[in-house]
Amino acid sequence: MRFRPFGRTGWDVSALGFGCMRLPTKDGRGAGDQVEAEESIAMIRAAIDGGVNYVDTAYPYHNGASEVVLGRALRDGYRDKVRLATKSPVWMLQKAEDFDDYLREQMTRLQAEHIDYYLLHALNGPRWESMRKLEILRRAENAVRDGRIGHIGFSFHDGYPAFEKIVDGYSGWELCQIQYNYMDTENQAGTKGLRYAAAKGLAVVIMEPLLGGRLANPPAAVAEILAGDAKGRTAADLALQWVWDQPEAATALSGMGSLAQVQENLGSAERSGVGSFGPEDFALIERARSAYRERTVIPCTRCGYCLPCPNGVNIPRNFELANDAAIHDDPAVPRLLYDRFLEENERAGACVQCGECEEKCPQSIPIREWMPKVHKVLGG
Ligand SMILES: NC(=O)c1ccc[n+]([C@@H]2O[C@H](COP(=O)([O-])OP(=O)(O)OC[C@H]3O[C@@H](n4cnc5c(N)ncnc54)[C@H](OP(=O)(O)O)[C@@H]3O)[C@@H](O)[C@H]2O)c1
Ligand code: SF4
Ligand code: SF4
Repeated sequence: MRFRPFGRTGWDVSALGFGCMRLPTKDGRGAGDQVEAEESIAMIRAAIDGGVNYVDTAYPYHNGASEVVLGRALRDGYRDKVRLATKSPVWMLQKAEDFDDYLREQMTRLQAEHIDYYLLHALNGPRWESMRKLEILRRAENAVRDGRIGHIGFSFHDGYPAFEKIVDGYSGWELCQIQYNYMDTENQAGTKGLRYAAAKGLAVVIMEPLLGGRLANPPAAVAEILAGDAKGRTAADLALQWVWDQPEAATALSGMGSLAQVQENLGSAERSGVGSFGPEDFALIERARSAYRERTVIPCTRCGYCLPCPNGVNIPRNFELANDAAIHDDPAVPRLLYDRFLEENERAGACVQCGECEEKCPQSIPIREWMPKVHKVLGG
C-alpha cells in the first residue's frame, strides 16, 4: 500500500480508502438494507489486511445497515488498524441536541467509543446556513473535547461558490470529502475546490473516483479509446490513477462491491503515485473525456443566464442531469439526484411553458421543448 499525507494532521492515509455505501446486498448491489453481512465483513477485512487504513460510512447508508456491518467488521482487532469516519445526517437535525443523539446512536451501531473523523454529511449552501443557525459546530467541538470524536469535517454536494463559503466559514475543519474524478473537474467543488481546500491545510478525501462505477463500465465508444492504453490498464485503474496523480487528493474512497474489486483496487493503489501520469496518459484521458462529452445531448453551458425561472425551475441543473444520463447511457443516478436533491418546483416537470427563459439563453436552446423530455427521462 502507498500512503499519503492527510492534510495538516500529521498522519498518513492509505491511497485507497473503503467507502461502505455500496456493499453487496441480497437484492444485488445498491442502497438496500439487506446487506450481505459476512461477504461485506470479509471484503472490509481483506482491504484492511491489504493496507487500507481509512474506512468511511454514514448514518443513512444501506438504511443504517452499513454502520452496523462496519462495526462488526472492525471487531477482532481491526478497529485498531484503521481510522473510522462517519457522518452526521445534517438534514435530519431539527435542533442542536439532535446532533448528540445521532452521534450516540451511530457509536452504538459502530460499537465504537471514538469516531476518528466526523463529517457533516452532504453539505450544500442552504444546509450550511441551517447548521450555522443551530450552532452545530459548537456541539461538534464539545464532542472533540470529551473524546467522542477526533476531527471535524464535511462532505459536499453543491457548486464551487458554496464550497469556498463553507471552507472559509469555519476555521476548525480538518478534512472535507468531495466528489471528484476525471469527468468532474469542473463540476461540484471541482479541481479548483480540491486545490483551494488543500492549500488551506484540509485533508481532501475523494469520493466517487469512478463516478459511482460509471467510469469503470464506459459506453462502447469510450471503452474503445481506453482499450488503446499502452500499459493495458482497465478503465477503473486508469480513473483511479488519474486521481492519485494529484498531490492534493489525500485518499480515494472506493465503494467496492465485491472481493474481486477490493483486490483489483488494492493492486491499483500499490502502483499509484503523485506525478505517475505521463503526457500520453493525460492524452488518453482527454480523448475519453471528449468521447463522453460528444454524447451530450443539450448544449447547455450552465451559464445561468436563463435564471431565475419565475416558477423556480433549476434549468441548468435539469439539463446537466439529462446530459449525464445520456453521456453514461444510464439514467439511474441522475434520476435519484432529480428525486432527492431537487425540490418539486425546481424539477423540469414544474415548467409551465411560459417561455421567459428562452430569449435569455445565449445558446438558443429551445428550453420549452426540452423540459417535458427531460422530465420524462428523469422523472420516470
Ligand atoms: N458524503 C457523501 O455525500 C457521499 C456521496 C457519495 C459517496 N460517498 C462515499 O464515498 C465512497 C466512494 O464513492 P463511490 O462508492 O461512489 O465510489 P466509486 O469508486 O466511484 O464507485 C464505486 C463503484 O464502482 C465500481 N467499482 C469499484 N471498483 C471497481 C473495479 N475495480 N472494477 C470495476 N468496477 C469497480 C462498483 O460498481 P458496481 O457495483 O456497479 O460494479 C462500485 O460499486 C462511498 O462508498 C461512500 O462511502 C459519500
Ligand atoms: S419556460 Fe419553463 S423553465 Fe422557462 S421560465 Fe418558463 S417555466 Fe421556467
Ligand atoms: S442560459 Fe442556456 S446555456 Fe445558459 S444555463 Fe440556461 S439553458 Fe444553459
